[in-house]
Amino acid sequence: MNSVTLRCVRRSCTGQAGLHQTDFTCPQCGGILDVVYDWKHLPVPVGWDAWRQRRADVQSARNRSGVWRFCDLLPFASEENLVTVGEGNTPLIQAPQVARYVGAKAENLYLQHEGMNPSGSFKDNGMTAAFTHARMVGATQAACASTGNTSASLALFAATTGLLRAVVFVGSGKLSQSKLAQALDHHALTLQIAGNFDDALARVRELAPQARLYVVNSVNPYRLEGQKTVMFRIIESLGDAPGWIITPGGNLGNAAAFGKAFQELYDLGLIKKLPRLAVIVAQGADTLDQLVNKRGLRWNDGEWDQGIIDDYYAELDRTHAKPNTVASAIAIHRPANLPKALRSLAYLNGVVRSVSDEAMLDAKAQIAQGGFGCEPASAASVAGAKLLIEEGVIQPDERVVCLLTAHALKDPDVTVQYHMGTHAGRFAHQPIPVANDAAAILKVISSGI
Ligand code: F0G
Repeated sequence: MNSVTLRCVRRSCTGQAGLHQTDFTCPQCGGILDVVYDWKHLPVPVGWDAWRQRRADVQSARNRSGVWRFCDLLPFASEENLVTVGEGNTPLIQAPQVARYVGAKAENLYLQHEGMNPSGSFKDNGMTAAFTHARMVGATQAACASTGNTSASLALFAATTGLLRAVVFVGSGKLSQSKLAQALDHHALTLQIAGNFDDALARVRELAPQARLYVVNSVNPYRLEGQKTVMFRIIESLGDAPGWIITPGGNLGNAAAFGKAFQELYDLGLIKKLPRLAVIVAQGADTLDQLVNKRGLRWNDGEWDQGIIDDYYAELDRTHAKPNTVASAIAIHRPANLPKALRSLAYLNGVVRSVSDEAMLDAKAQIAQGGFGCEPASAASVAGAKLLIEEGVIQPDERVVCLLTAHALKDPDVTVQYHMGTHAGRFAHQPIPVANDAAAILKVISSGI
């Protein structure tokens, strides 16, 4: 066998693909594929001390990347093809004020801020890996469907590296103007189709072979290889796995990648304990919650019950249900990585919860008041931490890492509405109108508001 193959995630399916294939659907069953490594025939990963040392080696483009420092754990990539824009140098921050808000001990709550990537979201971790694979196979144009962040990342990578032409499909519903601005500014061919994200993704997958588009959505398993490194950086900083990893869920690429990351680290003897995983979705786009908690869908050792999923999607169609949440980034009803997310939940003894728009926006305000801000969808992780501590699922003395998936400036309209809109939020903070007059200004400053 080759040391790197693509395999169908369903246990009973024998579908496979080679490293140079760019159709990421299983040739046998049409499902999703995984990058599978035969570690016995690959170089032994160098280990934590060496990865930490690479971090100091700023003269190497590979080591300046927080993704490719860990290249031994993404061994599909050939070094001469690495594409990097300096992604993955993201901070893990202790957040005592946020800890107080969620009910955790001050020293136990961490935020892993993936908004500090070049395009302002976690997507760059995956895009660097997808671009590297695209270069290995000689692709000339890449496409994605997006709620805004994947498209921003694709557009940035295409513009910065000059390797590929970027083609972006966005829906016509809620779309953050600042994310759209990124795609336009980086000169991606931007197609705004009449439909939502799920419609756009279906079109991209349908048209990719005909239009010779290399797909960089998270159905691309190489992208998920890059996203594993978020977990590697957390372990590298903490020295061990935390009690919990909490991530927002949309298309479920992160949930998929994180489980795979821990499975590989554990199998390679690089960690001794596993964290638990919580995937938090929006109440207005809660497919995962519905399927797992209400309909009992499970990974079932790779033989999940597709009938449960098909019935649920038929019901969505029958009732003309559309995703509806202020967290536009995760307004997704048909998450493409659902089976892989089920696998991660099974492996990491995971839980799924949905949170309201209000809970996300309040959490977002608290995150910003306590330091770094984030976009609305990102705050689902902190809202989820609060809920799970209230439920007693997470103990206050457990170490919790909440992912912040994107930067505060990604969706400023929502923030301004929260603070200044007619239905201002619980933690709203408003500007004070004051006359252009020294005495009046001094009076406001000294009033101690
Ligand atoms: N958070 C943000 C800020 C996102 O942009 C996304 C997904 C998610 C969370 C969900 O991540 O798909 O791994 O579960 N955004 C995609 C996009 C869909 O097109 O930008 P996931």
